[in-house]
Amino acid sequence: MSIGNRVSVLAGLALFCAVALGAAKPALAGGTQQGATATPAATSEATAPDASTPLYSARGAATCMKCHDSDIVEPGHTYKAATPIFSTPHSMKGDSHSPFGQHECESCHGPAQAHVESTPPKGQKKTPVPVDFTGPDAAPVAARNQVCLSCHQNGLRMDWAGSMHQNNGLACVSCHTIHVKKDPILVRATQPDKCFTCHAEQRALTLQYSHHPVREGKVVCSDCHNPHGSAGPDLLKKVRVTDLCYTCHADKRGPYLWEHQPVREDCTNCHNPHGSENPRLLKEKVPFLCLDCHSATNDMGGVGVSVHSVAPGSGSLYLYGDRSCLNCHSQIHGSNSPSGSTFFR
Ligand code: HEC
Ligand code: HEC
Ligand code: HEC
Ligand code: HEC
Ligand code: HEC
Ligand code: HEC
Ligand code: HEC
Ligand code: HEC
Ligand code: HEC
Ligand code: HEC
Repeated sequence: MSIGNRVSVLAGLALFCAVALGAAKPALAGGTQQGATATPAATSEATAPDASTPLYSARGAATCMKCHDSDIVEPGHTYKAATPIFSTPHSMKGDSHSPFGQHECESCHGPAQAHVESTPPKGQKKTPVPVDFTGPDAAPVAARNQVCLSCHQNGLRMDWAGSMHQNNGLACVSCHTIHVKKDPILVRATQPDKCFTCHAEQRALTLQYSHHPVREGKVVCSDCHNPHGSAGPDLLKKVRVTDLCYTCHADKRGPYLWEHQPVREDCTNCHNPHGSENPRLLKEKVPFLCLDCHSATNDMGGVGVSVHSVAPGSGSLYLYGDRSCLNCHSQIHGSNSPSGSTFFR
């Protein structure tokens, strides 16, 4: 579409075109003004666009897809076909909240007429689109994120600003992939692999003997974390670790007649949520785990001399063999038995 056509669009056909053709792209200034305040003054202002104001392409996606319906192979880089986006929720033309209910491809990539019309000499690149998301020409992170947040600054993203991931310069597209039928980060089977590209330590932990069934696809990172940010520590979905764990391990919630103080305080006093060489995700083997807190030298109840009448290190099977302390103190998370003050039953 020429500039002349664009004028007629702004002069009154904008609404008609948008609805009837579903592809007309009013210039930037017209976007919010059409209908309500399309006064002659506004129109004449828009008829003489500043040469530096980027313009939307004439026919939206239809223009782009003339070139981007298949891979574009260039020396050093292959630009993948844009086609898969048409099978995603982003391409709902009838929804004014969707990119395709607005400027189609250019809702995300910015007004790209200059890109469309540029005819570089052989071997050189076209004028880039205003917002490229990947590769060496990618726009600054803040600019890329602003595109996504213009529609998605809600729900899970309430605490994005100031979150650990935002502070460390992550882009939405560090995790999300747009031009695929189904974004792998939203699929339980493939989500952890994406996180593991940056979190090698957690990957190693999930490979240990005892682990949450992450590799098995039953538990995913986003069951416990909100990667966009959270009110609590460590991007956790709950402010308190115990409340997080209770969502799936309700039996540990109690209340118990006899509470074991460290359990109420924080499950990670004893468990590593990601994985461990020890059974049951325990940070240390029993009895060493217990002895960190219960030794003759601290005030949480001595072991050996007084109560157990067997000195630590004496090699008693009960104290140090097999299940060790758990042979007797089996209700370690708390007890409801009247005589369960030491978690025997
Ligand atoms: C006449 C063919 C043609 C049309 C039409 C076209 N492109 Fe491109 N586009 C290319 C080529 C070729 C490249 C590869 C690198 C280059 O030359 O810039 C490219 C690269 C891109 C890139 C990669 C990043 C960049 O800018 O370097 C994006 C994103 C892009 N185009 C989006 C669009 C959008 C959105 C439209 C429609 C508004 C569009 N293109 C229309 C040919 C086209
Ligand atoms: C919801 C935002 C959004 C919309 C709408 C969108 N894109 Fe993209 N585009 C992206 C993102 C993000 C990337 C980076 C790669 C990815 O996530 O798939 C990208 C990458 C590209 C690339 C570069 C691919 C490469 O391999 O380097 C091209 C070309 C492109 N888009 C063209 C288009 C065209 C054409 C349309 C319309 C049919 C379109 N885009 C619609 C967000 C969008
Ligand atoms: C013009 C508004 C708009 C823009 C810009 C936009 N989105 Fe969306 N997005 C939507 C709508 C509408 C939906 C579908 C309804 C929903 O899930 O909220 C959606 C859905 C999604 C989904 C869920 C997809 C699914 O398969 O369920 C993800 C993830 C997403 N967007 C990420 C992004 C990212 C990342 C960007 C920036 C590259 C972006 N969006 C840009 C409007 C937008
Ligand atoms: C560290 C990885 C990561 C980053 C960075 C990230 N996301 Fe997500 N996003 C996810 C995961 C994982 C899910 C699935 C969450 C779930 O199922 O609870 C998701 C889900 C979504 C959804 C669909 C679910 C919903 O809330 O409707 C949207 C939309 C979305 N993200 C947008 C964004 C935007 C916008 C940004 C940038 C400001 C962003 N994401 C940054 C990992 C990420
Ligand atoms: C069962 C719940 C749960 C699951 C599933 C989970 N995490 Fe965590 N994660 C936690 C808790 C609780 C903490 C904070 C305490 C800690 O570090 O032990 C944490 C802390 C972290 C930290 C910060 C560690 C540090 O040392 O500061 C990272 C990074 C992390 N998790 C990444 C992941 C990744 C990646 C996945 C998916 C493979 C994942 N988590 C799955 C519960 C979980
Ligand atoms: C592109 C790299 C990247 C990806 C992908 C990524 N992260 Fe991170 N993540 C980071 C960086 C950088 C930090 C800052 C701390 C650090 O260096 O570990 C971080 C920190 C965290 C923390 C600790 C937050 C805190 O307050 O201590 C958690 C939890 C976390 N990420 C979970 C996830 C989850 C879950 C996913 C996948 C949905 C994911 N990350 C994907 C780079 C990434
Ligand atoms: C999204 C649900 C979910 C959340 C949240 C959750 N877990 Fe689990 N947990 C599971 C599942 C599923 C299993 C495996 C159960 C099985 O195999 O029978 C499991 C197993 C365990 C095990 C036993 C592991 C083994 O090797 O037998 C421990 C210990 C555990 N979780 C502790 C925690 C702690 C601590 C938290 C909080 C940081 C937590 N869980 C949060 C779902 C969850
Ligand atoms: C004082 C250390 C300690 C604390 C704190 C602790 N646990 Fe445990 N947990 C254990 C021990 C020891 C075992 C192994 C018990 C066994 O093998 O009989 C265990 C086993 C488990 C198991 C697997 C077996 C079962 O009983 O279902 C789950 C699930 C579990 N703990 C969840 C939790 C949750 C949730 C919290 C926080 C509310 C928590 N634990 C706090 C020591 C602790
Ligand atoms: C993080 C520290 C910590 C760890 C680890 C720990 N405990 Fe405790 N435990 C406590 C505290 C604190 C109390 C409450 C002491 C009090 O009331 O004086 C307690 C109370 C007890 C009591 C009841 C004592 C009484 O006076 O009635 C028993 C029995 C007990 N723990 C056994 C164990 C066993 C067995 C383990 C290992 C599986 C263990 N604890 C691990 C901190 C810990
Ligand atoms: C053979 C059974 C048995 C084993 C094994 C055992 N205990 Fe005990 N424990 C007891 C008995 C009996 C009491 C005293 C109960 C009472 O006074 O009602 C006790 C009391 C305690 C108390 C409370 C002490 C106090 O001063 O009130 C703690 C703490 C404790 N045990 C920790 C441990 C730890 C840690 C281990 C493993 C190193 C362990 N126990 C192994 C039988 C056992």
